[in-house]
Amino acid sequence: MKHFLTTEDLERETIEGLLDDADGFTEVLKRPIPKVPALRGKTIATMFFEPSTRTKMSFDKAAKALSADTVAFSPGTSALSKGESFKDTALTVRAMGVDLMVVRHKATGAAWRLADWLDIPIVNGGDGAHQHPTQALLDCQTIRQRFGSLDGLQIAIVGDIKHSRVARSNVFAMSTLGAEVTLVGPPTLLPVDIASWPVSTTSDLDAVIPNVDVVYLLRVQTERGGASVFPSFAEYAERFGMSNRRFAALKSDAVVLHPGPMNRGVEISHDVADDKRALILEQVSNGVATRMAVLFRLLGGERDA
Ligand code: NCD
Repeated sequence: MKHFLTTEDLERETIEGLLDDADGFTEVLKRPIPKVPALRGKTIATMFFEPSTRTKMSFDKAAKALSADTVAFSPGTSALSKGESFKDTALTVRAMGVDLMVVRHKATGAAWRLADWLDIPIVNGGDGAHQHPTQALLDCQTIRQRFGSLDGLQIAIVGDIKHSRVARSNVFAMSTLGAEVTLVGPPTLLPVDIASWPVSTTSDLDAVIPNVDVVYLLRVQTERGGASVFPSFAEYAERFGMSNRRFAALKSDAVVLHPGPMNRGVEISHDVADDKRALILEQVSNGVATRMAVLFRLLGGERDA
């Protein structure tokens, strides 16, 4: 594996290998000194041109737990404001002696551009509404921990699918691991290329609720126009929100996931967000170990080392 850009072309063995490695790193992270020397001497740059709390900080933590050094690019205080281009910014950071870059950018394909321009591994930390592959890994890991496997699980992904790189990455990863994915949302928030996705679709959340093992809620991507296609947040919550009533209608062992940041009271009620069957903070914790697995694999770590 040279780069980690998308889940669309990942083989089942590749995903499972990364999740197995992440299991090992989860053990490392529970040690009194939660650190291994695997990437000592390597430098990892986080290049986040879009806001992030979880993804950026967990990549930083993951790199440090592997004993790599980290450098962070911050667009607000960088020479971007003096007009420096994306390409020149990337070449500049590379010239400092960076061994791997994690990039998040509003433009679809940004990570692929870096992979063309630079001679180091690139990790896609989210490109526009396109892909966010490490999010899918940590989500699959969270589900696998709970159910043992994704094989045969019924998973509903609910909300603003069209603008969601999280949904796109998860659809391919989850179905590769054997889950059956149903997308639930207003028809206007389904992507145009949906016919080529391995999913079924519906607008009736109440009809799928009793049958699913996992409900994956998405944030309405207001910054990408997601809120312009329905009349109000109250109406959205009424039709597509995980209310207390819908939560009570789930199977007793069904779980709720959300990538964060949450809009409490819109796609998820306060009570559900805080329930122990909402695995939202477990997702965040798994983000560190799964990102360690990706960094370790790309920087030459052997599977069994
Ligand atoms: C997501 C993102 O930025 O794609 N957040 C995340 O990485 N956990 C989802 C979102 O912003 O809604």
